[in-house]
Amino acid sequence: MAPGLLGIEGLDRAEIESYLHRAKAFQSHGASNFKKLDTLRGKLLVNLFFENSTRTRTSFEIAAKRLGADTISIAASGSSVTKGESLVDTLNTLAAMRPHAIVMRHSASGAPHFLARHLETPIINAGDGMHEHPTQALLDALTILDHKPALEGLRVAIIGDIIHSRVARSNVHLLSKFGAQIVLCGPAPMLPPDLAKLAPGVVLTHDIREAIDGADVIMMLRVQLERQHETPFPPGDYFRFYGLRPEHLTLTRQDTIVMHPGPINRGREISSEVADSKRSVILNQVENGVAVRMAVLEKVMGVQAA
Ligand code: CP
Repeated sequence: MAPGLLGIEGLDRAEIESYLHRAKAFQSHGASNFKKLDTLRGKLLVNLFFENSTRTRTSFEIAAKRLGADTISIAASGSSVTKGESLVDTLNTLAAMRPHAIVMRHSASGAPHFLARHLETPIINAGDGMHEHPTQALLDALTILDHKPALEGLRVAIIGDIIHSRVARSNVHLLSKFGAQIVLCGPAPMLPPDLAKLAPGVVLTHDIREAIDGADVIMMLRVQLERQHETPFPPGDYFRFYGLRPEHLTLTRQDTIVMHPGPINRGREISSEVADSKRSVILNQVENGVAVRMAVLEKVMGVQAA
């Protein structure tokens, strides 16, 4: 299998630390006086998105350009997939044009893993169904480390539509490898008991106040309506029980940070007051997405970090 990045579950601590260390070095490259690097000059990256994206797709593209690579972005809606071409044929077609890596988002859990077994081109998973979103977990860890000295021992509350969330899964895998205490919180249909088996020590609760009690980090999740056949809750009811509001922040410490992978639905899982508050690091997460994806592209596209 070509070396790519398919998930966090299969990485060890040293590999994760290596990505984070390199991403830290790239953080300063977001400054307005940033000079483009030529680390990946002559390399070609294909961004192939079968699901919508704003943050992931754009930041992969920016990251590649900052490293000097050429990029092509393809949305499934504008490709021959709409004419009935299969996933394997689409990927083989793109691979025949000899890109150095393919970034791929797909609604089917495991799609990039399946393709990685059949292609020589490295594949970077930009989100596969309800399974993993590895670069999101890396950028989340980088953001937490901008505000906290270490991941070890942190209490992280992940709240919302856990069952459908690839972000939650990748974060649980990453944070548990570093000894963080993880509390998953959501309504019963979005938090089946099996999720406690995701990693040792994961705790489940249906009570948002219990989840945020003593939390260093509160990570809110979007309700993934696109992965459900019927709306499980009217938005108002969901917000009443699981929406993060200013009164919740008064129950937490002053240094508790609020995260959200985006896109946020104001008034459904988070209030505008909280999303725009000083506690919110949501836009820091977006900014760190570029640094993390620079680190990932540098490694996957065959250039060793110094
Ligand atoms: N967090 C995230 O994956 O956002 P996008 O869907 O906009 O890429």
